[in-house]
Amino acid sequence: MTYTETDLVASMERLAGDGLAALTQEQWDQFDQFHAGGSEAVERVLPSLHLAPGMTVLDVGSGLGGPARQVARSSGCTVVGVDVTPAYVDAAQELTHTAGLAEQVRFFCSDIAAFDGSEFDAAYTMHVQMNVADKKTYFAEIGRRLRPGAHFATFEVCLSGETQPTPPLPWSLDGTDSFLATADELRATIQSSGFELVEWVDETAWVRQWFENIGARIGGRRYPNHPPRAPDRRLTRMLNFAIALDTGILTIHRGSFNLAP
Ligand SMILES: C[S@@+](CC[C@H](N)C(=O)[O-])C[C@H]1O[C@@H](n2cnc3c(N)ncnc32)[C@H](O)[C@@H]1O
Repeated sequence: MTYTETDLVASMERLAGDGLAALTQEQWDQFDQFHAGGSEAVERVLPSLHLAPGMTVLDVGSGLGGPARQVARSSGCTVVGVDVTPAYVDAAQELTHTAGLAEQVRFFCSDIAAFDGSEFDAAYTMHVQMNVADKKTYFAEIGRRLRPGAHFATFEVCLSGETQPTPPLPWSLDGTDSFLATADELRATIQSSGFELVEWVDETAWVRQWFENIGARIGGRRYPNHPPRAPDRRLTRMLNFAIALDTGILTIHRGSFNLAP
């Protein structure tokens, strides 16, 4: 089990010093976006969803809710997040309440296969497929929650070839819950689960540049308190991820699809 952190909001409060409500959006982004590329990655995904105020959007594997809140703020849509990790769903709800978005963004603790919701106008999933063994069922279950023709976007870590990245990784402490597919396998699985391909983009170079810039970003942070103990070897996990991207073991692919009518 990889996602074992608890008391997430308390840890964030300690980091924030003056309280989460006093943080800038840029500082929030450093806490609650749990994928390579941070809030800029969400910006890259957003255009393909063609959102308009009043629509309802599904975020599958919503984590701490950073992407869901960003999508809600920038589109005026209602966003529903679904995630299997109870502590993340609790934190996502609390953070959303603090951000004043509780009317617009909600979270449910559930596997997508058991989630009771349908007729969403759009959906996205970011950095989740690595933890999903049965990808065909995962994407088919997402499709079952959407209206025909709905837009679906992915932003996922993929394997380049046979070589596995060295754990610990952000999504797997020991490799036993890492189920990486290659980009070709992932795209084909999504297409065979009822989606029509619109766009499939290799974002690896952009993400590698984002990791290059991260040192400067971390150096520029000014928190009133020193960070508490990093949960579960977070720095090593991020470094191993960055090295695997740098050495060509992993890629990041962004996908855009429509649910077949
Ligand atoms: C690396 S985090 C990404 C979180 C979020 N998408 C983000 O980008 O900030 C992966 C998340 O996927 C969730 N997850 C893994 N398998 C899942 C599944 N079958 N259904 C829903 N969520 C899942 C985990 O609990 C975790 O919160």
